[in-house]
This record gives sequence, structure tokens and C-alpha cells, in this order.
Amino acid sequence: MIILGIESSCDETAAAVVRDGTQILSSIIATQMDTHCKYGGVVPELASRMHAEAIVPVVDEALEKAGITLQDIDGVAATRGPGLIGALLVGFSFAKAFAWARKLPLAGVNHLEAHIYSLLLLDTPPRFPFIALVVSGGHTNIYHVTSPQTFELMGQTRDDAAGEAFDKVSKMLGLGYPGGPIIESLAKQKDPDTIKFPRSLLEKESFDFSFSGLKSSVARYIHDHKIESQEDKAQIAASFQAAVIDVLSWKLITAARHKGCKRIGISGGVSANQTFTFQLSKRAKKEGIRVFAPPVDLCGDNAAMIAARGFTMIQESHTCNLNHDVFSRTRI
Ligand code: KG4
Ligand code: ZN
Repeated sequence: MIILGIESSCDETAAAVVRDGTQILSSIIATQMDTHCKYGGVVPELASRMHAEAIVPVVDEALEKAGITLQDIDGVAATRGPGLIGALLVGFSFAKAFAWARKLPLAGVNHLEAHIYSLLLLDTPPRFPFIALVVSGGHTNIYHVTSPQTFELMGQTRDDAAGEAFDKVSKMLGLGYPGGPIIESLAKQKDPDTIKFPRSLLEKESFDFSFSGLKSSVARYIHDHKIESQEDKAQIAASFQAAVIDVLSWKLITAARHKGCKRIGISGGVSANQTFTFQLSKRAKKEGIRVFAPPVDLCGDNAAMIAARGFTMIQESHTCNLNHDVFSRTRI
């Protein structure tokens, strides 16, 4: 079964063709990064307009790269939420029209479930059950995943998402957007233990996160120490990143222990951070836990993960019709 996947929840217009939920025939991502970085973050109105311009050429390219025609498609999957409403509407309305015109089933995919599915696209995916982290610019959620459709939310951020903290610290240091990759490469030059930024673990029994205290602490440090040189910025980047990695790793391993799981999967933009994957894997190994992460091109927003999730929904006849709408806030 060939599924056309479409993603437009934030600042990437993406389309992918996936066979039987696992074999990626094409995955095209048109990023709007260059436009939004001038404003230091995503401008929703601009995002919607750019999705509207990009959607048809991106889908065309995905079909061409996959070497298929419209007749070969058996189903359509598009992100329904969470995300920016105007942005979601472009991809989901396109998918509705496409599915209706060709009389195909349409899956309205939850973007967070799809990030977890990026792990199921690995050659050797984690077996169920596993602990999954979705960590991006908008979310820091921990799930206990017990089957292809059972995602128990164990904890989430109470304020900023981890990716958002990377972006804000980058901005404070006068570096660019998105902050994650910039902070990661700068951090490589310095010892992460020099500045002791706080690790907010909240209550012992909670799997929730809080990153706003860390962010304020970095802001105070910058204010008190008149940070100007690239060297000083690298020191802050390394120490800040270490604090985020510590908290994420500690909570994930504690969650795995709590559920008796031997597998942890990380997904979302921040999971592209190689220092994070390395540190987490090292600590997990001591507990006999294996860590799974998607390849870099499937960490951030993409449509292959949407098609993969949509495939299982269509198989279970969990489909949408023309009356279904997009949603901005999470439903899992
Ligand atoms: O999943 P994503 O592409 O978009 C959504 O937010 O849904 O994630 C983007 C976020 C940004 O906050 C960006 O700074 C962060 O992921 N990010 C990283 C890295 N690459 C991207 N954070 C830390 N290290 C990275 N290498
Ligand atoms: Zn995402």
C-alpha cells in the first residue's frame, strides 16, 4: 500500500511517499528557515503563505522522486495537529481535496505520534514496549508506548520546551536561529562542567520538565559577567547544553526503570543533537537500556513519519472525512 504523506504544522512544507508504512520512496522537505530566521522565530502568517506556495511543487517532487503517478497512491495522510492553525490548514485542506478527488482514504495524523513513528522507520526499530521522548521547539513529552497505537503520556514540560530553551539561549548570546545546532557546535569547544547551571528535576515521582529556571539562570549569568567573546559564549553553550542533557537523560532513564522498559527512543528536532544521543546512550548502557534515535533527516519535521503513522490508521479504518478539522493543541 502506497501512502502520500503531507506535513505543514510549523515551518516545513513536506511531502513523502512511503510503501507499506516502512519503505521510504521519497521524502521532500522545503524549509522556510531563511525567511523566519530574520525575525528570530516562526511568524505564523508568513508560514501559512509560504506553505500555500510550496505545497503543490513539493508534492509533485515527492511523486517524481518516488517514480510513481497519481494512480499509484492508495491513501493520503496529513498532519491534523498540534501546530499553527493557519499552517496546518494548508496541508490538511490540500490532503482533503486530494483524497476526495481521487476517492482515497484520508488519515488525519497527530504530529507527536508521527514523531514517535520516525523511530519505527529505522531498519531495526525498537520493540514494544518502549519509552519515547518527543523533544522539539514546541514539545518535551515522555510516553510509554506499548503498541503501534497506545501512547501513554507520562510527563511533559510545564513551561518552555527543550528546543525553545536552546533557541532562547542562542538569542541571548546574539547567535542565530534555530539555536540548537549553533549551541551544539559551539559547545564542543568547552568543558561542560565549568559553570554549574541548575537542573530542575521537579518532584521525584514526576516525569514533567521545567526549563524556564535554567533559561533565567543563563540570562542572569550573561548579565552579571558581561559576556562578549566567542570563547565565553562557547563556555555558556557547553554548560547550558549539559544541564538540558542531564535532565532529559535522568528523566528518561528513571521513566524506563519505572516501567521496566529496556528501550528508549528519542525523536523531534533536539534528538538531532549528537552530544545528547551519545551521553544518553552511555548512561542508559550502564542500566542495560538501549537507545534508539532517527537518522538526522527524520529528527525534525518531515512527511515520511506522517505517512508511516497514517498507514496504520488507514489499515484500522481510522480515517477522516471532509467535516474533520485541524487542531492546535495536543490530544495525546
Ligand atoms: O522538530 P522540529 O524540527 O520542529 C518543531 O519544533 O516541531 O524542532 C525544532 C527545534 C528547534 O528548537 C531547534 O533549535 C531544535 O529543534 N534543534 C536542536 C538541534 N537541532 C534542532 N536542538 C539541539 N541540538 C540540535 N542539534
Ligand atoms: Zn515536530
